[in-house]
Amino acid sequence: MTSLSINNKKPQHFITTADFTAEQLLDFVQVAIQHKVQAKYQYPTPLTDLPLTGKTLAVMFSKRSTRTRVATESAVAYLGGHAMFLGSQDIQLGVNESLLDTSRVVSSMVDGIMARVGGHHEIELLAKESTVPVINALSDKYHPTQILADLMTIHEYIHHRDNNTSSDQYSAHTQHPRETLPGLKVAWVGDANNIIQEILVAFLKLGISVSVAAPTGYVCDEDVIKIAQADAQKTGASLLFTTIPEEAVKDADFIITDTWVSMGQEDEKAKRLKEFEGYQVTMDLANRGGAKPNWRFLHCLPRKPEEVDDEVFYSDRSLVFPEAENRKWTILSVIDRLIVKGGFQ
Ligand code: CP
Ligand code: NVA
Repeated sequence: MTSLSINNKKPQHFITTADFTAEQLLDFVQVAIQHKVQAKYQYPTPLTDLPLTGKTLAVMFSKRSTRTRVATESAVAYLGGHAMFLGSQDIQLGVNESLLDTSRVVSSMVDGIMARVGGHHEIELLAKESTVPVINALSDKYHPTQILADLMTIHEYIHHRDNNTSSDQYSAHTQHPRETLPGLKVAWVGDANNIIQEILVAFLKLGISVSVAAPTGYVCDEDVIKIAQADAQKTGASLLFTTIPEEAVKDADFIITDTWVSMGQEDEKAKRLKEFEGYQVTMDLANRGGAKPNWRFLHCLPRKPEEVDDEVFYSDRSLVFPEAENRKWTILSVIDRLIVKGGFQ
């Protein structure tokens, strides 16, 4: 009788971009761009070599999602695999069964897990117990797949701007993001939430300066600030925290914001709307603060009008719809690296 052994190697997870080097982050972005070009412009028919054939990704979401869910399910289908959506109403998790037991059980049957959770400790526990790669689809601390899409969108815009080309004639794949991203300046005007925290641990490492304006009392986690400060010191990028939006947008190439009321904070809505008064992103704010003349706007979506007015949101400055589409290509890149290729060696 032949005995068979199983692979006990610890899987590589994608919990936050803080766990990856600058080169690895650039690699995620670069591969995402190559997938976009191949799928949309060079090879519009389905792939014949389907690397996820016979494989399943469990998509365990305890919160709502449009972009992350559609991006993930369509990316897995594109690679020939099956995305099994498990919403909070569908499985025993949180009602009849613990996260620990769920993680051990689900990971024994699938090839990867994409999870949207509440507290960040939940995604950490899931990863600790899982025998397959776990991808963080949003926790209250970080949103790593979102920030890869932001980097890709910034790269595309800078590429077309600097080469005087139009995105109708896509050519962003001809330049490496390490040539476009360092030296830029990003301003955040809004809540000290999961999106800016992920920006802080990714952007400074890549040499992108970040200024954060949040109201008094809204501060990022201490460990996140420490990581950002250490990265800033290494790359020479600047890092500023202020309560004055005008100060943050000074010389900014990009202004970024998000909802003032994240999922799970609905009870605080009235208080937050009052405390964030003066933080709406408008043309006037950008002019008053002295953003760069050709500044652009990003938002992870979904958007509420209080944090950015229609004039900015629907203007040519707004990159929010390409940014949303790029969720698909960057999530595809993460799945490709972690599940198809087994992680960085
Ligand atoms: N940006 C983002 O994560 O959107 P969804 O909540 O719709 O997935
Ligand atoms: N900060 C928001 C992001 C949604 C994509 C939230 O956590 O609800």
